[in-house]
Amino acid sequence: MAQVGIIMGSKSDLPIMKEAKLILDEFGIASEVEIVSAHRTPEKMVSYAKEAAGRGIKVIIAGAGGAAHLPGMTASMTSLPVIGVPIKSSNSIDGWDSILSILQMPNGIPVATVALNGAKNAGILAARIIGSFDKEVQAKMDAYALSMKALVEESGRNLEL
Ligand code: RP5
Repeated sequence: MAQVGIIMGSKSDLPIMKEAKLILDEFGIASEVEIVSAHRTPEKMVSYAKEAAGRGIKVIIAGAGGAAHLPGMTASMTSLPVIGVPIKSSNSIDGWDSILSILQMPNGIPVATVALNGAKNAGILAARIIGSFDKEVQAKMDAYALSMKALVEESGRNLEL
């Protein structure tokens, strides 16, 4: 059963959003991927947000670009943590519109907003949230951090100037 719901406003977001799915797969965390548009399929957005917790979803990752209302509107209809991924899309003015639409939420309805096109970090953040109540996943998060440390240390050896 999926623990993480990955939704996005358009199939055109998939090349970015698939990074969240791939890293969750690497950690062995089941996720589902769906196209849910705040503007083009508003009824689907409402039912997805309202039903996700009851289906066992623990974290929602929502990506959108331009007038990016999907993450915030989803967060307004669920008490699950929602991670927002601003996407530099075809209708986006240099990405700031996507970032600010997702980032500047009113008090009371948080969306944890990652960097522009930061779907991989959204997946890692979702895994960390799952790891806070699942020791096995938490151990994988610790191992992942250690592997990155080793990679950086290795990359610093034998630097050619
Ligand atoms: C947003 O509009 C989507 O999330 C996408 O980032 C952007 C462009 O969508 P398409 O016109 O490519 O379907 O709602």
